[in-house]
Amino acid sequence: MLVSATEMLKKAKEGHYAVGQFNINNLEWTKSILQTAQELNSPVILGVSEGAGKYMTGFNTVSAMVKAMDADLGITVPVALHLDHGTYDACYKCIKAGFTSIMFDGSHYAIDENIAKTKELVAVAHQLGLSIEAEVGAIGGEEDGVVGMGECADPDECKQIADLGVDMLAAGIGNIHGKYPENWAGLSFETLDAIQQKTGVMPLVLHGGTGIPDDMIKKAISLGVAKINVNTECQLYFQEAVRKYIEAGKDLEGKGFDPRKLLAPGCEGIKEIVKIKMNLFGSVGKA
Ligand code: 13P
Repeated sequence: MLVSATEMLKKAKEGHYAVGQFNINNLEWTKSILQTAQELNSPVILGVSEGAGKYMTGFNTVSAMVKAMDADLGITVPVALHLDHGTYDACYKCIKAGFTSIMFDGSHYAIDENIAKTKELVAVAHQLGLSIEAEVGAIGGEEDGVVGMGECADPDECKQIADLGVDMLAAGIGNIHGKYPENWAGLSFETLDAIQQKTGVMPLVLHGGTGIPDDMIKKAISLGVAKINVNTECQLYFQEAVRKYIEAGKDLEGKGFDPRKLLAPGCEGIKEIVKIKMNLFGSVGKA
């Protein structure tokens, strides 16, 4: 059931658990994540970066595929189709394409410009029933060719953005997209605590969910994180499973070259990691 992310995140924040955002790249990814959410009776957010949107030939294709798949699979758990790290233009494109949720990432603008653009998009999104995520303080690492160093957000700026009426707020707390480097300092719980004190009931978003130790995830949830984004880890589980299939020579046996057979282990890999994350985040049975 396609919905905005507003209700599921409000419930998650109140219930002290987090909803996973899993990024999608193609049909196999989407199907594996939707089937797992349904099996575990968990709400879920499908994240689409601009790069992944382009790869899938455009946001209209993505929206049509997700809606049709949701119906054909008979998905009854709440599913939000969400633009990840959107530019101003991409937000409008996704609104038009029928997404149910958008993220406007204005973190690279000066705070005044971030506020002005976020405010405008909040009004448009809410008028059409979409949820909207904003960002303060850049998330580190590389995503779609943009490399951020990872900074801690200013809690006062977080409050300014939260007061615009966004449905969820991504705030940098030392988190990084992709694999964490050996010398990573860990999440700044001091910053997270200060942000939650200022923003109250606002569901907070933790980007860069791949590779964050379980105890840090649990602590982040206890300090107000209600949405956690995972992308790289699904890619790694998919890659590892497909690699094993090919290395075992299974693609050379019988009809093992059939793409449906070749990609099946990868899909199982995605399902496995999504299950692990949904259990860790506490969203199982919360649909
Ligand atoms: P990872 O790729 O590190 O899991 O981060 C995902 C993310 O934050 C998407 O916005």
